Amino acid sequence: MRHFLEVDDLSEGDLAAVLDLAELPHPPAILAGLGVALIFEKPSNRTRNATEMAVVGLGGHPIVMRGDEIGLGRRETVEDVTRVLACYHRVVGARVFDHAVLEAMAKVDEVSVVNLLSDVAHPCQAIADLLTLRHRWGGRLAGRTLAWVGDGNNVARSLTLACGLAGVDVRLACPPGHQLDPVAVDGARARGVTITTTTDPVEAVSGADAVCTDVWVSMGQETEQHQREDAFAGYQVDEALMGRAAQGAVFLHCLPAHRGLEVSAAVIDGPASAVWEQAGNRMYAARGLLSWLVADEVGQ
Ligand code: CP
Ligand code: NVA
Repeated sequence: MRHFLEVDDLSEGDLAAVLDLAELPHPPAILAGLGVALIFEKPSNRTRNATEMAVVGLGGHPIVMRGDEIGLGRRETVEDVTRVLACYHRVVGARVFDHAVLEAMAKVDEVSVVNLLSDVAHPCQAIADLLTLRHRWGGRLAGRTLAWVGDGNNVARSLTLACGLAGVDVRLACPPGHQLDPVAVDGARARGVTITTTTDPVEAVSGADAVCTDVWVSMGQETEQHQREDAFAGYQVDEALMGRAAQGAVFLHCLPAHRGLEVSAAVIDGPASAVWEQAGNRMYAARGLLSWLVADEVGQ
């Protein structure tokens, strides 16, 4: 049973296969007659819509549930919820506060489990980000450099691991106390790419082919808003910072965005920004991922 809790659940070859499947204009209806349960303990616009439409595009039937209506771990145990969903569905996707919930679901191993964002990782986003960069860079990822400016969070983690698998060097500029988990840095390095960590956004961005950021306050961190806005002052991706990147560099943001905080309006709404294409690619990425997950059962 294949699961997708973090990008490094894929090999280099698996990731390339997922990206190729994501690019199929008319993918086979591999989910025909099958259900996909989608649980959201946190808000979502892109992930919910992209995944639901991807399931429909593959001939399957999505059922979306809010965390409070299913009561994971409260109304019944995570394992019992998962065993029951496995009776009706081929895949369970879940957006959760605690990554350990996804691990408990995957351990049941009766239905494929997909991480739709946790406190630790956002791997579906990373696939869409690589898809966007592959298009923007003429079909080839390896050998490029991506700069991450801001929080060393769930999105940074999955994107760094994805870059490792795809041969993309990463330079992370995060303030002290908000740096990426060293295990993820080492995991990406182990793939042979160069991962640089710094606290200086200019050092990270200089000459980079892509510049990425994310919110300073992730879902579940709302009480830390003021401290975080202070900690991240000086980490806004503005035109001056983008000007340090390579000519033609792409700006990415997984969204939702806060103009005037992590990114200036001039950058996100300007010519370097690929954020709408990136959001659109969430659906193609989900199609590719779901096709790969289910292909296991049919021996592909
Ligand atoms: N980028 C992303 O995951 O967006 P949502 O939170 O709207 O799903
Ligand atoms: N880091 C953000 C990503 C939102 C898509 C969060 O976890 O809220």
